[in-house]
Amino acid sequence: MCNAGIIGVGAYLPDRVLTNDELQKMVDTNDQWIRTRSGIKERRIASPELATSDLAVIAGERALADAGVAPEELGLIIVATNTPDTIFPATACLVQDRLGAVKAAAFDLAAGCTGFVYALATGSQFITSGTYKKVLVIGAECLSRIVNWEDRKTCVLFGDGAGAVVLSPVPAGNGILSFTLRSDGSKGQLLSVPAGGSRQPATRETVDQKLHTIHMDGQEVFKFAVRVMGKAALEVLAAAGLNRSDIDYFIPHQANIRIIESAAKRLNLSMDKVLVNLDRYGNTSTASIPLALTEAVQDGRIKQGDHIVMVGFGAGLTWGATVIKWGSPA
Ligand code: ACO
Repeated sequence: MCNAGIIGVGAYLPDRVLTNDELQKMVDTNDQWIRTRSGIKERRIASPELATSDLAVIAGERALADAGVAPEELGLIIVATNTPDTIFPATACLVQDRLGAVKAAAFDLAAGCTGFVYALATGSQFITSGTYKKVLVIGAECLSRIVNWEDRKTCVLFGDGAGAVVLSPVPAGNGILSFTLRSDGSKGQLLSVPAGGSRQPATRETVDQKLHTIHMDGQEVFKFAVRVMGKAALEVLAAAGLNRSDIDYFIPHQANIRIIESAAKRLNLSMDKVLVNLDRYGNTSTASIPLALTEAVQDGRIKQGDHIVMVGFGAGLTWGATVIKWGSPA
């Protein structure tokens, strides 16, 4: 019996930086409020000609190159996103075509900001079952396209970006050791894009009322996130036979530094073990965890044998966590 392990990572961030000072000129806000209440200093914004698949393709190409895997070797591509290029075809199919992954199945996965953790767990099933040998999992977003730029409560929080990993079989005891995936649909209204689906198709009124943008009860989502993050991390550690002290790196979904700090406290972790990128990129939803992972692998912080705990939460509501033993020993 094998596990699924990550054998390559890649990321892509648009060049355009939107600072808090610039936002101050757009809505009634200021740098100090944004930094102290959320921890965000700046975020990246995709230029108008780019869509989510464009970001996903570059992150995917980089992950494949890092893994030394050719596109034709892929059995499956999963793109976790809340901002697909179109309702259909799936963004994953656009990526499949652009990468030249001629033998791959491809689908999108929608689980709010938990999408990357859900996609990782889903992809790993196809590896451990022996169905596929190589799976590409991407988290990619152009959240700037669904933000209401007149709503200061949300527009300061989000950014664009993409991160990707390649999964492959690794010997038992390595790779993804355990995961938990959860949902509570009864609280779905706390975080939604109300229109544009079959419930409220696009009309002149839905556009005028900005119902195609993110609507969020920030305080309730905050409380929910604080409640579930530490708990989910402890669950996956226990399932893998590990303790809090075994965590080498903690990669939380990047929504608010205060949420991250409270989860770290619950896990008894010093902040040098916690990977943070929301100061530079804001909340990039499904991209936040693979972006942080890619940076830490590339700058040499994450090493062979490290235990990494990832925790996501978001729209749905959904939440999930996984613990990974890094590296792929022969
Ligand atoms: N600039 C200045 N003032 C602001 C801003 C802003 N950008 N936004 C809100 N305020 C004001 C409010 O109007 C309020 O003023 P009032 O007291 O006069 O009414 C005051 O600041 C405090 O507002 P709160 O909402 O109480 O601020 P809070 O400390 O809760 O921070 C925040 C808000 C940052 C949104 C926080 O609640 C949060 O991070 N929530 C979680 C968000 C999250 O995790 N989202 C996940 C998304 S996942 C996905 O799937 C997309």
